[in-house]
Amino acid sequence: MSDNRPLTGMTAFITGGSGAIGRYSAKWLLRDGAAVLLMARHMEVLEKARAELRGAVAGARVELYAGDARNAEHVKAALAQAYAVAGRLDIVVATVGGSVGYRPLLMCSEEDFRKDLEINLLTTFIAVRYSVPMMTRGGAIVCISSTAAKMPFNGLVGYGTAKGGLENFVQGAAEELGAAGIRINAVRPGLMRANNNDRLMQEPIHGKFVEQMPLGRTGEPDDIAAAVRYLAGPESSWMTGQSFAVDGGHELRRNPDLGFMMEQMYGAQAMAAVRSGKPPRG
Ligand SMILES: NC(=O)c1ccc[n+]([C@@H]2O[C@H](COP(=O)([O-])OP(=O)(O)OC[C@H]3O[C@@H](n4cnc5c(N)ncnc54)[C@H](OP(=O)(O)O)[C@@H]3O)[C@@H](O)[C@H]2O)c1
Repeated sequence: MSDNRPLTGMTAFITGGSGAIGRYSAKWLLRDGAAVLLMARHMEVLEKARAELRGAVAGARVELYAGDARNAEHVKAALAQAYAVAGRLDIVVATVGGSVGYRPLLMCSEEDFRKDLEINLLTTFIAVRYSVPMMTRGGAIVCISSTAAKMPFNGLVGYGTAKGGLENFVQGAAEELGAAGIRINAVRPGLMRANNNDRLMQEPIHGKFVEQMPLGRTGEPDDIAAAVRYLAGPESSWMTGQSFAVDGGHELRRNPDLGFMMEQMYGAQAMAAVRSGKPPRG
């Protein structure tokens, strides 16, 4: 029987492949016929993700690579393994990102700021820089931004800066890579269920986000994966350099005030000192 699914024969490389967006994106790509390589640091979590994907998609071809997406040598080795699946690379989904946590600007160190830039921006640069030379003409790269790229969040200045930079990177890269027939776009998720964000998904914080979302709920990984699948596939073949929100409409409103959460984390006195511009440690 012939397999005429839209991504049959293609191979996808996914950083953060054991995470929420990574493995749900993998599921959407596998269902349409692609093979995937998942990269993340912990092999046992990757193994779990593979078992879940094999349960969800019959005949799923899932390769794994344990390594750090901030390390170009690890990424090159993972890319070589992905390429070896079928002698081609068609899709890259660069999901690795995150923040050092909610921390007021005046409590951040240089190291905190550097970490935010590295985990969001440098990992995206490395994934793009070393995948493109291996990619088939017509290939697609999908990056993951955040509502923080467009709306200021108290306590997430480094993260917002990195994601804003990522969206600018997507535009610049699209301009340069168009001639090689490679497209690059980004999804800008709102708050959604993930591996490590239980605190934000619990009340009262969860409710404060929902109040700002016209569609009245936070996201599920499938909400984002559907957009990743669209940007990765032939349906978006005339799109490049774009970043769009998938956030229940959150971007139409504003960010919730999470000052109370940071008071719980750092103490009322420290937060008052920060608001006055005179933080405890200068
Ligand atoms: N969840 C949300 O509400 C939300 C909202 C907006 C934007 N985003 C963005 O969505 C992206 C994905 O987040 P998610 O929600 O899917 O997160 P997640 O469920 O926590 O997954 C993160 C994934 O990245 C991997 N990872 C972390 N650091 C890594 C590194 N240095 N090298 C290689 N892999 C690494 C993790 O595995 P290991 O720990 O084993 O490496 C895991 O596979 C991020 O860019 C995040 O900023 C998320």
